[in-house]
Amino acid sequence: MHDRFSSLNFSIYNSSQAVALYGKASSLQPAELTLYEDLRDALPAMDMLDVGVGAGRTTAFFAPHVKSYIGLDFAPSMVDAAKARFPALDIRVVDATNLDFLPDASHDLILFSFNGLDCMTMDNRERALAEFLRLLRPGGHLIFSSHNINFLPDLTRGFRPGMAAHPVKLLKSLKRFARFLLVNRNVTYANDMKTALVFERHLGFEFPLLFIRPDHQVAELARLGWSGARAFASDTGKRLDGPAALRGVDSPWVYYHCRKPDAAMA
Ligand SMILES: C[S@@+](CC[C@H](N)C(=O)[O-])C[C@H]1O[C@@H](n2cnc3c(N)ncnc32)[C@H](O)[C@@H]1O
Repeated sequence: MHDRFSSLNFSIYNSSQAVALYGKASSLQPAELTLYEDLRDALPAMDMLDVGVGAGRTTAFFAPHVKSYIGLDFAPSMVDAAKARFPALDIRVVDATNLDFLPDASHDLILFSFNGLDCMTMDNRERALAEFLRLLRPGGHLIFSSHNINFLPDLTRGFRPGMAAHPVKLLKSLKRFARFLLVNRNVTYANDMKTALVFERHLGFEFPLLFIRPDHQVAELARLGWSGARAFASDTGKRLDGPAALRGVDSPWVYYHCRKPDAAMA
């Protein structure tokens, strides 16, 4: 594993605890459902890459309907679990920042669901997005989600139970909150940050995740050569139309849909 950011994320996602948790999930999230409905008629003509496929939550929805399907993940334990569920499918251990095994302009749809892109440094995030642009045919679709920086105050509020809570519960959550503040002491929630690297504690692991301001993510996609970026609230599946909606959304994460530019569509 090339950097500390990736290796800490690798440790959690390659663990039996994460495989058990992600293996239980079997439905699409609201924003995924909105986008799935949007693309449903076009799926039979699409070659699809399901990046960060985990234990295969999205596989059951997409693989039977697309022209071809490859699932990939950098965590071998996740790939084993996905392959156990879908033995006939092509699901491999691959890092999303290096997709050399696939030729240019070979895919129509790339999905990186449930915030897998946030497991990378900003440099690797750009590297992965450049790989996706290379792999898509003109007009091809990219769908991914990312943690929402506007949600950070809610995240920390969740650590603070009322004073009426049982003393052991109160003590535990105060400890958790203090730990969160300690490892994230460089993060201030009141400022106008566009991205933040936040250490989260989950399943007994402490690992960094990238949070991004949705209007900044949309601007970044344009800067990196993507066209027509649209954003959707993760919890309602509603489209975030215009700058005010992008600045105001406080869903835990946001889905983005953008396309590789196509001269014929312009
Ligand atoms: C939060 S899990 C989501 C799994 C699955 N997409 C789902 O929605 O159930 C994020 C997944 O991204 C994978 N991942 C993170 N960084 C990756 C990378 N650089 N290359 C490939 N997969 C990666 C993790 O191993 C993990 O399975």
